[in-house]
Amino acid sequence: MATHRILFVCLGNICRSPLAEAAFRHAATEAGLDIEADSAGTADYHVGEPPDPRSIAEAARHGIEIGHYRGRQLVVDDFHRFDWILGMDTSNMANIARLDPGNGKARVEMLLDLVPGREGADLADPWYGDEDGFRDTWEDVSAGAAALVKLLR
Ligand code: 4NP
Repeated sequence: MATHRILFVCLGNICRSPLAEAAFRHAATEAGLDIEADSAGTADYHVGEPPDPRSIAEAARHGIEIGHYRGRQLVVDDFHRFDWILGMDTSNMANIARLDPGNGKARVEMLLDLVPGREGADLADPWYGDEDGFRDTWEDVSAGAAALVKLLR
């Protein structure tokens, strides 16, 4: 079985993309898919840091431990290593495109574009809001993860 290599990308790699990675790992494992998943930020603000405590708490509410994840920045090599690079919002997509070498193998898409009925929708940044925002983030990344699993299986 082919290994599917998926990279989730947001701005800081501490709120949305770690949750997307966690939701996808969970859904893909349940579906019996052979995957490698990772996440990265387009910015270097939180390199080497664990996810936001609110993201760690949200994942824990779903029985998933992400406290060991560490932030890293998107690099050109990611376009060659991964099959899919999935941004969270239109701003992420613009930042990803700026780094895209153009000769990579990665298919670059916005996560909610994979979800029927939510094409073109930004996956909102919960960083400036309260904890409730992270529940919405979880719902959105889970919808994206389920849609991606459906595409890959
Ligand atoms: P994320 O959220 O892109 O979902 O990880 C953010 C995290 C940090 C910052 C912005 C967004 N920041 O400006 O530090």
